[in-house]
Amino acid sequence: MQIQRAISLLAALLLGLYAAQAVADDEDKGEKIVKTTCGLCHLTGTAGAPIVGSKPDWAPRIAQGKATLYEHALKGYEGKNGAMPAKGGNATLSDDDVKAAVDYLVKKGS
Ligand code: HEC
Repeated sequence: MQIQRAISLLAALLLGLYAAQAVADDEDKGEKIVKTTCGLCHLTGTAGAPIVGSKPDWAPRIAQGKATLYEHALKGYEGKNGAMPAKGGNATLSDDDVKAAVDYLVKKGS
């Protein structure tokens, strides 16, 4: 009985570690993608893009909700400031990659 409890404790611990690592990986992934693809416009505000880490730029966008931000990042859209290309113009990114990048942008801008 003791051993069984120890094993389930260990399993729970490992699962927790794994989940924490997955979250960290996702954040790293988002940052990398922003730096390599999205940053082209979003680091400097080129073409009217909301700047990474600028709360005034991001507050009204975050207020639209993440579903809208994901949709606009994945499919692209024409806004008041300019055009946001689908997947930032990098078709090799998966949907999850783009979502991780949006999560990173939202986190930095909150
Ligand atoms: C060629 C320049 C360019 C690149 C590259 C780019 N964006 Fe954008 N993005 C824009 C512009 C311009 C806007 C603002 C459009 C407007 O609202 O007028 C924007 C807006 C956004 C928004 C806000 C959407 C909203 O509804 O307010 C998100 C989220 C976003 N981009 C995510 C990304 C992600 C993620 C990437 C990389 C995968 C990326 N962008 C790459 C130009 C770019």
